[in-house]
Amino acid sequence: MRSLRPVRVLKDDDPEAAALHRDGWRVVAESWGARLVLDDGFDPAPFRSFVERAEQQDVAVAELDEGWTEALLAFEAATHDDYPVTPATPAPPLRDGDDIAERRAAGWRVFGAVRDGVVLAASWIRVHGDQAETETTAVLATERRRGLAVAVKAASVLAAAADGARTFATGGAGVNAGSIAMNQSLGYTLTERWLSLSAPEPSDSSSGAAVSDASARPTTR
Ligand SMILES: CC(C)(COP(=O)(O)OP(=O)(O)OC[C@H]1O[C@@H](n2cnc3c(N)ncnc32)[C@H](O)[C@@H]1OP(=O)(O)O)[C@@H](O)C(=O)NCCC(=O)NCCS
Repeated sequence: MRSLRPVRVLKDDDPEAAALHRDGWRVVAESWGARLVLDDGFDPAPFRSFVERAEQQDVAVAELDEGWTEALLAFEAATHDDYPVTPATPAPPLRDGDDIAERRAAGWRVFGAVRDGVVLAASWIRVHGDQAETETTAVLATERRRGLAVAVKAASVLAAAADGARTFATGGAGVNAGSIAMNQSLGYTLTERWLSLSAPEPSDSSSGAAVSDASARPTTR
């Protein structure tokens, strides 16, 4: 059964985190944020070469429009349970076409690697002015470690940069070595670390309300 103890998500250098620790709060998960900043002399060539390396493996890398909804749902069903979820890095499921339409309506675009009509990898990105954030990036388990994650995320960076984005935000679970490596390969730098702290068992059994305060947290990937 899920714990109903309060959870706070705080930066690891926040004095309040240290104070909660002293009060018996326990770290139940770690997470991180990372940034990629493109300078004025932005050179797209390294990003293009990530895409080209994937295309040499008989896959097409491109933005996936509404026509890919069914294939994206199949991809989501195959990969959703692989996201390491923490209080700071939830993985909201895409259950049906409405969920995908809603995400698109909120400004998200999806870039994928596809073969024979099957989505092998996908990355969701959204641009606000010169800022971009990634929601999720995933690859089918059978297709990992072939450069497809960096390819789809590189394709998303190229498209967002063409739209004016210069600062790219992402983040993930502390345990997600693959995600950290993927982002570092693309030039992202880890900028912050977060702790998810769970309250000690209440000594007063009357204080039983469920609370999950994860408002200040990185949710992009
Ligand atoms: C994380 C994930 C997207 C990586 O996909 P991938 O296709 O295997 O990644 P790539 O092949 O493009 O590899 C990119 C880099 O990460 C490294 N890498 C990938 N998985 C790794 C792992 N588990 N541990 C360490 N390094 C890893 C690769 O070696 C490569 O490094 P290099 O450029 O120095 O050679 C994939 O494991 C996945 O779908 N996981 C489940 C969903 C998830 O957690 N997504 C991230 C959070 S949204």
